[in-house]
Amino acid sequence: MSAWPRFKFYGTPRIFLQAAGEILGGTIHKGDDVARLEAEIARLTGRRHAIATPQARVGLFLILEALLARTERRKVVLSPYTIYDVVNMVVCARGVPVFADVDPRTGNLDPDQVAALIDDGVAAVLSTHLHGIMADLGRLAAVCEAAGIPLLEDAAQAFGGRWQGRAAGGVGHAAMFSLGRAKNINCFYGGVVVTDDDALAASIRAHMADWPDLATSFLVKRIIHCAIIALAVSRAIFPWLTRHVFRSLAIRGERKGAALFSTERNPLLRSHLPPDWQRRLTPMQARMALDQLRRADADQVHRLRLARLYRDGLADLPQVGLPRPLPGADDIFMPFPIQVADRLALQEYLLNAGLDVVVQHIGNCADYPVFAPFHRDCPQARQVAKSVLLLPTYPEYPEVEARRIVRAIRDFYKAPPES
Ligand SMILES: Cc1ncc(COP(=O)(O)O)c(C=O)c1O
Repeated sequence: MSAWPRFKFYGTPRIFLQAAGEILGGTIHKGDDVARLEAEIARLTGRRHAIATPQARVGLFLILEALLARTERRKVVLSPYTIYDVVNMVVCARGVPVFADVDPRTGNLDPDQVAALIDDGVAAVLSTHLHGIMADLGRLAAVCEAAGIPLLEDAAQAFGGRWQGRAAGGVGHAAMFSLGRAKNINCFYGGVVVTDDDALAASIRAHMADWPDLATSFLVKRIIHCAIIALAVSRAIFPWLTRHVFRSLAIRGERKGAALFSTERNPLLRSHLPPDWQRRLTPMQARMALDQLRRADADQVHRLRLARLYRDGLADLPQVGLPRPLPGADDIFMPFPIQVADRLALQEYLLNAGLDVVVQHIGNCADYPVFAPFHRDCPQARQVAKSVLLLPTYPEYPEVEARRIVRAIRDFYKAPPES
């Protein structure tokens, strides 16, 4: 039966074998591989410093905390179309989030909106490369330079992207990548901060100096949890069981299908970095990340091939908004987001045709009640957040399935087949 899931973890099944070997062999915390990973990420991003963190969001907290300690300014301008903990990291670092609306073509910060919000209370601008689509770093850098403030890059979803030949994360004053389970470099949990600012790097390292490694028990639980999900989306189980579960969840409840794996269901406001986040990446995770870095280019070639196929196959449909590449941007499309007015109806149609796709679960943080003190009207972010449907691009996803998705979307909109 041909049925492919909406996502798969990068690095499987090898990463699970590796994990089992390390857990049984008691080597999780042994080796100098964290330093090796840091050196490799610094090399790949062209930065003087790379510092492994337990999660990308913690890396963002550490960057902001150090930068805000240098200034009386408190405001951090950022996109509201992101995960809510990005906003929380600004708050935890004693900054004030200021939401700037997005450019609907990319789903990322609109530089004109950012420019309009700059005043002498703004300490930094945080740009997000959501879905692995590069924000307009050229214009954002110009706005920040004119204001004399740092541009930061949330490159959690963009490892491997480029802006005018420079690596994502290699353009702003500092950046963070995620090595979390849903990312293209997956060690179940983790992140890396990069910067050329020696004092910033030293301050982040000093802050983390007393933090213990992520606990073995925590990692084992996380790995088992991911193994269960990996099994559910495996070729052995997905076509017979999981796809029916996904389909009925999506069809029965407004966002149930998307919410199943979502961490964005119940946004909360944090005022302090949770103590159990104050941990360090383990050598085992660094080995996993190093191993996957070797495959990153090949995976990217595949993603770009699928993105091209979706783009070419849907370009003439007025009902489908495609991400519009900015000049100088090399996007990595993790996954390929399309914007449609009726995404639940389209999702249902595709699910009924045996094509498993998911609606984006990330919302417009500017409208979340928990962030009411920071509310700003961001109509583009609101519109984008309720329109995005994600088309798969992961390494195993077959081109023939991507073509089926294109055909089914064309059928849905009663467009003639592609010529
Ligand atoms: C845009 C964005 N920023 C930050 C993060 C945080 O990454 P992490 O889970 O490693 O903290 C994520 C995670 O999904 C993300 O998608």
